[in-house]
Amino acid sequence: MKSSAIAHSNIALIKYWGNWNKVSPELNIPLNDSVSMTKYGFSQNTHLQTHTTIEFSEDFKENKAILNDNLLKGRDMERILKIINALKKLKKIDYKFKMISFNDFPTQAGLASSAAGFAALTIAAAKALNLDLSQEELSTFARLGSGSAARSIHGGFVYWYRGTSHETSYAEQICGPNNFDVNAIIAIIDEGKKDVSSDLGHELANTSIFNTLRVKKSHEQADEIKAAILDDDFNKFGTIAENNCMFMHSVMMTSEPALFYWSPLTLRVIKKVLNIRKAENLDCFFTIDAGPNVHCLCRPENTEYIQNMLAKIEGIEKTILVKPANDSYTTNEHLF
Ligand code: PMV
Repeated sequence: MKSSAIAHSNIALIKYWGNWNKVSPELNIPLNDSVSMTKYGFSQNTHLQTHTTIEFSEDFKENKAILNDNLLKGRDMERILKIINALKKLKKIDYKFKMISFNDFPTQAGLASSAAGFAALTIAAAKALNLDLSQEELSTFARLGSGSAARSIHGGFVYWYRGTSHETSYAEQICGPNNFDVNAIIAIIDEGKKDVSSDLGHELANTSIFNTLRVKKSHEQADEIKAAILDDDFNKFGTIAENNCMFMHSVMMTSEPALFYWSPLTLRVIKKVLNIRKAENLDCFFTIDAGPNVHCLCRPENTEYIQNMLAKIEGIEKTILVKPANDSYTTNEHLF
C-alpha cells in the first residue's frame, strides 16, 4: 500500500480569503468561488512542485510525516491527518502511515507550497488506498489540508466552486495548460517563512468591513475571468486578476489586527509593472498571494524582456519563470 505523486503549486487569480463558517471551519469551505493557474517553473532548477510518497501498513505503530527532512508535528501533522483520516474512513481501514515529501521550492513563503503539498498527499494516499476517485472528488479531500490545494489537483486554469458542503466545494478545470498562453515571472523578494499563516488570515478576513464587498465582487470576477480565459482575452484576464488581488490585500490591511504581507520592495515591483504597461504599452499585470513576492502575468513572447526589467530592481533576490502546468500525477518513483 505504497504510492507516490507529484503536484504543482498554483497562483490565485481570483483569491480565496476567508472561510464560510456556517459549516464546520475545519472543512475549509470558502466564502467565494476562486480561480487559479497551476504553475510549472521552467527557468531554474525549481519546478514549484512537491513529490510525496506515502505507505499504509498494519505493521506501523505510529504515523510519521517528513517534509524536506523535517519531522512534522503539531498543526502540520493535524492538517495531514484531516486528509488521511477522511480517506481511511472511506476505505474503512485504520492503518498507520509513513510519508516522505520534498518541495523543490521555499516552504510557506507565499508561493503556495501547501497547495502543492496537500494535492500530492491526496493523490498519493488515494492511490495507496486503492480508492477510485475522480479529479473533482480528489479536490474535495485536498481542500481539507489547505483550501487552495483543491485547485492544484488539476493542471492549466482551474475554477473552485465555493459550494455549501464537503462534496459540493470542489475544483474543476476551465481549460488545459496549452489552451491559454500565459507566463508569470515571480519576483522573489523574500524566501523566508511568512509571519502570518494564511490559516490565521482566513479567520481575520471578516473583521474587515470591506470583505463583504470583496466576496460579492469576487463571485462576479470569477465568472468574468473564466470567460476571458476561454475567449483568449489576455488584457481582460490580467485587468481582472490585478483588481481582485488589490481587493484581497485591501481586506488584509483593514483587518483587525491589520495584516501587511507586502514589503517596501513589493510596492516597487508593482510600480515597475504599472510603468512597463503604461510607458511601453506592454500587456503585463501583477498579482500577489499571502506574502511579499510578486507574480507578473504576461504573454510568453514578452516574458524575457519583462524578466530582465524586474531582475534589475535593486533587492530582487531572483526571478522564477512559470507557465501553466499539466495535471498533478502519480509516479512510480518512490522516495523510500
Ligand atoms: O490555501 P490557503 O489556506 O494557503 O490559502 C490561500 C490564500 C491565498 O493564496 C492568498 C489565495 C488563494 O486563493 O490561493
